[in-house]
Amino acid sequence: MGPPGAGKGTQARRLAGPGEICQISTGDLLRAAQAEGSELGRQAETYMKAGELVPDDVILDLVDEALERSECAGGAVFDGFPRTVEQAGGLDDLLEERGEEIGVVVAIEVPEVEIVARLSGRRICKNCGKMYHLRFDPPREEGRCDACGGDLYQRPDDRPETVQRRLAVYREETRPVLDWYRRDGGPGVTPIDGDRPIDEVELEIRRRLDATGTGS
Ligand code: AP5
Repeated sequence: MGPPGAGKGTQARRLAGPGEICQISTGDLLRAAQAEGSELGRQAETYMKAGELVPDDVILDLVDEALERSECAGGAVFDGFPRTVEQAGGLDDLLEERGEEIGVVVAIEVPEVEIVARLSGRRICKNCGKMYHLRFDPPREEGRCDACGGDLYQRPDDRPETVQRRLAVYREETRPVLDWYRRDGGPGVTPIDGDRPIDEVELEIRRRLDATGTGS
């Protein structure tokens, strides 16, 4: 968990992998539905462009479906989900039906001023989805993906005014989820200082996961 631009996607991709655990990013699932031109994608686009949250029932259906993927049999890292207390309750129900539970809740913390810089410089490969940052993690050739040679693009919701709305939505809707996980009998929250180089953040997350017995 963490605010927009905290590095959730960057770190989730590093933690997930074949034979390990899968990554379930609700943002990526919604963008894939848009790229396919499905009805769900069209509905979601209006919310996403405005920086608002997509309705909880839509999101929970997407996650329910994603949990059935064979590569998720060994576990999953959720990225950008749950974002409301209702989604967190819904996730508990989905996991309980499967005899599973949350192992650890990682919260990546980054100051808002840094977030704005990160999102304005973010670029993504149209073809394979690999992520870059113009300053912090640039591609070798400008505008081109190192991994597959695809064109890089900027997400429409990374415009400054939409970023401000996404941050406000995070404060109002998503921060309460962290308190909900901290409640008596909940899984608790593991805070991670995300205002450090990408490799250092990854090492710290892995170290904390190992300490809780959740690491590989
Ligand atoms: P989503 O796609 O989930 O976006 P987000 O939460 O706003 O998060 P981001 O993807 O912007 O940031 P991130 O934390 O993953 O950072 P990243 O690793 O990319 O959601 C988009 C929209 O979809 C929402 O607004 C909503 O409308 C809808 N939606 C999605 N899920 C939903 C849900 N559950 N419920 C309802 N609606 C939902 O990194 C950012 C940049 O910084 C990159 O360029 C990266 O290279 C760079 N970077 C990363 N780490 C570092 C570092 N340590 N140092 C320097 N640079 C770094």
